[in-house]
Order: sequence, then C-alpha cells, then structure tokens
Amino acid sequence: MTAQLIDGAALAKEKLSQLKQTVISLQGRGIQPGLATVQVGDDAASRIYIRNKSRACAEAGVNSIHHDLPAQSSERDVLRHIDTLNRDASVHGIIVQLPLPKHLDARRISQSIAVAKDVDGFNWRNLGALMEGTPGIVPCTPRAAMVMLDSAKIRFEGRHAVVVGRSNIVGKPVALLLIARGATVTVCNSHTADLGAITRQADVLVVATGKAGLITRDMVKPGAAVIDVGINRLPTGKIVGDVAFDEVKVVAGWITPVPGGVGPMTVAMLVENTVNAAARNQQ
Ligand code: GUN
Repeated sequence: MTAQLIDGAALAKEKLSQLKQTVISLQGRGIQPGLATVQVGDDAASRIYIRNKSRACAEAGVNSIHHDLPAQSSERDVLRHIDTLNRDASVHGIIVQLPLPKHLDARRISQSIAVAKDVDGFNWRNLGALMEGTPGIVPCTPRAAMVMLDSAKIRFEGRHAVVVGRSNIVGKPVALLLIARGATVTVCNSHTADLGAITRQADVLVVATGKAGLITRDMVKPGAAVIDVGINRLPTGKIVGDVAFDEVKVVAGWITPVPGGVGPMTVAMLVENTVNAAARNQQ
C-alpha cells in the first residue's frame, strides 16, 4: 500500500486564493487587513519563517509590516513596541517570532499582545477558549493539522488519535482540537515507554517532537493518517520531518510531506487568523 499525499503546499495555495477574495470584499468596505511581525535579534530560521509569512500575506492581499528589534533590546523596549502595535488601528494581527533572546521573558511578551490581535493564538484567553470549545483564535499549526485531516475526509469519532509531543504551541492544542472532534486521544512525550506500542494503535498520528525520523514504519498502523509537524535540518542541509517518510508512506493511508506539508498550511492559517481578526474588528 502507498499512502495518499496530503499536499500542504497545494492546500495552502488554495486557501490563500480564497482569502484573497475575502480581502477584496473587506477592502470594498474600507478595511485593509494588516499583520505586524516582530523579530528580536537575528535568528536565521526565524528570518526565513517571517519571510514566508510576509510572502503569504502578499499573496492574499494582506499588508505585512516587519519590525526588527536589536538582540539587546530590553523587555521594556519590546513591551513598549507591542503596546504601540496594540493601539495601531491599521494592525489587526501581531506575532512575535519565537525563540526570543534568553534575557527576555517570552511568556510575558507573548501575553502582552492584545487578545483580539493575537493571531498566533498564544494568549491565555484564546487558549482558554480552545480548552472550553468556545470561539477564539486557534493556534496556526494545530489548525493546519486539522484542516489537512479534513481535506482527506478523516473521521474522528470512534477513532484513536495519538499526538507525539506535548508543547504549548502544537501538542497540547492539537490534542484539544482532536478531543473536540470526538477522537479518543493519547498524548505521548519523550519519556513515553514503548512509544511504538502506542503509535501503532493510532488511526490518526500527529507528530511534533523535532526529532528527525523518530517515527519508523514499524510504529505506524496500516492505513493511518500521519501528520508530520517536524522541520529538522540534517547535517547535509536536507530538511526532513519527524516521520521517516520513505518507509512510512508504504504503510500509512495518508501522509504529509516535509517540506511542503504542515509548514505552508500553518502560514496560510496565520493569514486566515489575520483576515478574520480584521473582519471581526469592524463588526
Ligand atoms: N516559532 C516557531 N513556531 C512559531 C509560531 O507558531 N509562532 C511564533 N510567533 N513563533 C514561532
């Protein structure tokens, strides 16, 4: 058996072109959606991610304005900058790219973004809404995983979903989304004993650990839907996921590639959160 590919790049393109139509209709009402991206310091990977986010915004007709702050900025400087963006009516979404330099409190800085502009969905109010199952801004990568599963028409009720990874950005929120859809959910972590015994039970397997090739063929149930959130750079420079793609695609029913899977769809979800924030702002 060979898995069907869930093509994140193609799905993202389609999503951005739908969003462009929404943006055109917002512009007709005098609303130009805008995203502010903030980077503190010069992390090379962050620079690439921000560039991808700006390109996706441009594709959907969303303004994106980048704010580069020096690595030695004080916490007060960063908080003051965010406060200005919180008050700026032309800005509907704000993201502070992580990781931040060590001397800054990432938690305090993330929480200082206005709830209505928190298009990363990291604010406790938005995370609380997610836990409760009420409307709020949902974090982009977990949303991307769910939209990709929906594109493959995966059912959740009566199925076992296994999440490998328990981060606040991916593992925990995706587990909540899967619970909300009626899946039976197990969340594993790096200490889980006999990980394969659990992942082999998964009808839906979401992997977000940052460990290249962690999930091998013997750890996957035949026919499972496998969502690979990992982005790892090998010493050769090659980018790979947390799933050993070439061997797992032989047993899985559906699989996302890396690159070209969850990554581009995550960026499209950020643009969607920004467009939705702009639309809500005007109601
Ligand atoms: N760094 C890695 N992933 C993310 C993300 O989803 N949002 C932000 N702001 N920074 C990140």
